[in-house]
Amino acid sequence: MTVTGLPRHGPGQHAQGGRDGGEGPAVRGPLRTVLGHFATGVTVLAAGGDAPEGMTANSFTSVSLSPPLVLVCVKRTAAIHQTVLDSGSFALSVLAGPQEDVARYFADHSRPRGRREFDIVGWSPAPNTGAPVIYGALAWIECELTETYDGGDHSIFLGAVLASGHEPTRDALLFYGGRFHRPALRRAGKWDIAVYQEVS
Ligand SMILES: Cc1cc2nc3c(=O)[nH]c(=O)nc-3n(C[C@H](O)[C@H](O)[C@H](O)COP(=O)(O)O)c2cc1C
Repeated sequence: MTVTGLPRHGPGQHAQGGRDGGEGPAVRGPLRTVLGHFATGVTVLAAGGDAPEGMTANSFTSVSLSPPLVLVCVKRTAAIHQTVLDSGSFALSVLAGPQEDVARYFADHSRPRGRREFDIVGWSPAPNTGAPVIYGALAWIECELTETYDGGDHSIFLGAVLASGHEPTRDALLFYGGRFHRPALRRAGKWDIAVYQEVS
């Protein structure tokens, strides 16, 4: 099998990894497609106790268990960017399979802002920071912002985990190829098999 877009090299030969050296739409479009081949879960990032903001994010990554650290990358123009900096904290809710509408809502620039932003979902304040945790999420993680790194048009927020929780394992909401998917757990003999279904 060959690798699409690369010349074929035999064992012991090294592909010359080329820099594409550009930032324009001609690079961004194809790169977005390439990066879309990395399947992720989907979270709602939230921050601010009294005036909370939320945003759909799939750049969440676990970084370290000892000490417990996670990161999330946030576009500098997103409303929540300043709220994370001001509050020095954030919470992440890991969305379950049926929560595609929640993911779409918090990724929609035209959603209501201020307190009304969270009117369409049930939520509870995270115990230390008051950042909203979405009802029905598979898991949640509350963090203190410990470092902010420059990440081009995004900031990389590193968070020290203050508290976390999870539900029993259920089907997760996934994002792959620019679409939402949910794995349907099917019982096949003695095995639970995840059958990945595109839902939109
Ligand atoms: C599945 C999915 C994942 C996303 N992940 C991120 C992310 O990790 N970081 C980010 O800055 N925006 C991400 N976005 C885009 C934001 O959710 C969206 O642009 C949001 O409206 C930004 O907030 P704003 O309306 O306040 O600008 C994602 C969108 C979707 C649909």
